[in-house]
Amino acid sequence: MKQMRLGTSELQVSQIALGCARLTQLDQKGAAQLLHTALEEGINFFDHADIYDGGACESLFSKALELTPSLREKLVLQTKCGICPGYFDSSREHILESVDNSLKRLNTEYVDVLLLHRPDTLMEPEEVARAFESLRDSGKVRYFGVSNQTPGTMELLSQALTVPLVADQLQFSPTNTGMIDFALHANMQIDASVDRDGGILEYCRRRNITIQAWSPFQYGTWDGVYLGNEEKWGELNRVLRELSQQKGISPEAVVISWILRHPAGIQPIVGTTNAQRLRGICRADGSLISRPEWYRVYQAAGHKLP
Ligand SMILES: NC(=O)c1ccc[n+]([C@@H]2O[C@H](COP(=O)([O-])OP(=O)(O)OC[C@H]3O[C@@H](n4cnc5c(N)ncnc54)[C@H](OP(=O)(O)O)[C@@H]3O)[C@@H](O)[C@H]2O)c1
Repeated sequence: MKQMRLGTSELQVSQIALGCARLTQLDQKGAAQLLHTALEEGINFFDHADIYDGGACESLFSKALELTPSLREKLVLQTKCGICPGYFDSSREHILESVDNSLKRLNTEYVDVLLLHRPDTLMEPEEVARAFESLRDSGKVRYFGVSNQTPGTMELLSQALTVPLVADQLQFSPTNTGMIDFALHANMQIDASVDRDGGILEYCRRRNITIQAWSPFQYGTWDGVYLGNEEKWGELNRVLRELSQQKGISPEAVVISWILRHPAGIQPIVGTTNAQRLRGICRADGSLISRPEWYRVYQAAGHKLP
């Protein structure tokens, strides 16, 4: 597994990360098997959030791994905060309390990265800055980032921060390409030319902020898995199968290679709970996808080129 540097941080992370939002679909033995498979395959980066199954995913993670201090040092743990039932909360109190709870559940003294999970229109940048400084100074959090944010909110926040933002976690897959469509269709009077995300891809590239791609196998927002959905995504599945056979890797690995092929240095966060599927995914590499193949997958998902 290749490694990459996360944003401007000192962290060397696996180019593929394991997302732990579905971990509690497994019992402790199954979770241990999945997590040890990830480690064997060279994955060192694990993505969490305080809200994943009400915190139970974080607890199961540390129990299943039997997290000792020496194992902890080999891992890069990321968690998120700020989503509450019915509202978003980026207040200092909420951030500090959420991190303390995550640390207890993860059975660790620090997380490597903390992300604000969603933009909060009531955010006070100075308050977030005070929370981040206090977490950094106490050693509870090493680096900070955001999720689902536009350049506008990141700039607003950054004006008050004394720490860099190292990541923005965004949905990205062959079926969810909003962040690239508009630039490809610039100057065209069509829907695809509308910039809904404020040029987030270019913004992150220019500032060396790592984009993490969440839900690489889901279409819509929560509509389901496009892999194997022949009715809705027949052409995409046909092309992925063909490339999978040609290259001797799984269709999932073709998708992840497609994400890794993009020069933005996107880190896919995969959420499988199946250890065998994970092994297949870890065969992915950006170098396996040629330029024509990249555009072929893009178009097979129904996107047009000008
Ligand atoms: N920042 C955010 O707002 C946000 C939002 C959502 C997620 N996330 C993060 O992103 C991570 C990944 O999200 P995700 O789990 O939605 O991603 P995903 O990897 O796209 O989806 C995983 C799901 O797809 C299934 N799957 C994969 N390949 C399949 C196939 N060929 N056929 C049938 N089912 C298949 C998996 O089933 P198996 O388990 O059986 O393999 C699993 O249920 C999360 O764990 C979380 O860390 C962040």
